[in-house]
Amino acid sequence: MSVREIVLLGDPILRQETEEVEVFDDDLRALVRDLFETMYHAEGIGLAAPQVGVDKRVMVVDLRREDEPSAHVALVNPRVIWASDETDRQPEGCLSIPGIEDVVERPKIVRVQGSDPQGRDVVIEADDLFSRALQHEIDHLDGVLFLDRLTPLKRRMALKKWKKQQEAAE
Ligand code: NI
Repeated sequence: MSVREIVLLGDPILRQETEEVEVFDDDLRALVRDLFETMYHAEGIGLAAPQVGVDKRVMVVDLRREDEPSAHVALVNPRVIWASDETDRQPEGCLSIPGIEDVVERPKIVRVQGSDPQGRDVVIEADDLFSRALQHEIDHLDGVLFLDRLTPLKRRMALKKWKKQQEAAE
C-alpha cells in the first residue's frame, strides 16, 4: 500500500472521462487500497482514481468520521441510476482544488449502481452527505469538477482565488 500524489486542478486527467474497469484483479484491489490510504492521509472523505492520475472508473468514500457508519465504500464503474427532484445546497471542496470551497446544489437522494472491488454488483441508495460525496466522486469519473456546478460568477470568483493562491505558493 502506498500514499499516492494527488493531482491538482489544471492537470488534464481531471478533465477526461475515465475507462470502464473490465478486469477485477489484484491490481484493481491495490488501487482501491491506495485510494483509501491517500484519502486518509489527505484527511478527505472521498477520492476518485483520476485524482491519483489513474484513468479508471474507481472511487472511494468514507464518512465514518462524520457519524455515517455505513458510508464506507469502494465502487467500480459506478453510475447514478436515479436522483431525487428534491435538492440540497451544502458547501463542498475537493482534494484536487485545496483551499477552495463553495455551496453546490445537488439532488438530495441518489441511487447508484456499480460493482465492488471483487466484481459483485452493488446498488446503494444514499442521502445527504453520503449522496453528495458519491455524486462528487462519480462526477470526477466523468471529468466533472464541483466548480462546474457553480454559477458562472461564482466559478470565476473561485478560479480567481485559486490562481491567486497558486501564484502565492510559487
Ligand atoms: Ni473532488
